Amino acid sequence: MATDSLLISNIDHILLHEQTILSRLDQMAADIVQKYRGLDLTVLAVLNGSLIFAADLLRRIPLPLKLECLSVSSYHGGTSSTGVVTFDQLSFPEIAGRHVLIVDDILDTGRTLSAIRSRLVQESSPLSVSICVLLRKQKTRDCEVEADFAGFEIGDEFVVGYGLDFAEEYRNLPFVGVLKPEIFAAAAQTGV
Ligand code: IMP
Ligand code: MG
Repeated sequence: MATDSLLISNIDHILLHEQTILSRLDQMAADIVQKYRGLDLTVLAVLNGSLIFAADLLRRIPLPLKLECLSVSSYHGGTSSTGVVTFDQLSFPEIAGRHVLIVDDILDTGRTLSAIRSRLVQESSPLSVSICVLLRKQKTRDCEVEADFAGFEIGDEFVVGYGLDFAEEYRNLPFVGVLKPEIFAAAAQTGV
């Protein structure tokens, strides 16, 4: 929960400035165009975390593509994963015979992306499934899953901004940053 009326005052330091992120998106988009040129592509954006990343990335990809969104919850407040991945939709979008690029904010334990990929392959018949994330945490993953496209490698620390939240806040910051330690302490006290 924000302790100040301005989000920025709760940030300890900025990890990735907006311009750094946007420059990297230009390169990622070029790599994606190279891979999917001439193919039937569906981009599957995982909400809410990938909202801002996907919006900026897709506007740099001048290919014909379909956009679908998937609502998934895997963190229920706090900074540690519950390990439980909940799908908010009963059915998946129609992707039979298409190449699918899953876009998510961050590859952390790998549970979310692994669960999504498994369901996609089990329930539909995509021609291929690839994964694109803004951030990849350097750590041992709980599930065997890797990103085909990754914006930045970061250490194993909790980050917010550019779509990433802490207790559903901070998604609207234009950069990726680290919260002041007292924000976590205050949230723990109030039970967020
Ligand atoms: P997973 O642990 O790889 O399954 O990641 C699950 C989800 O946890 C991600 O899609 C993010 O929404 C969230 N998450 C993981 N690490 C962070 C973080 O450092 N900040 C904010 N959200 C995170
Ligand atoms: Mg989240």
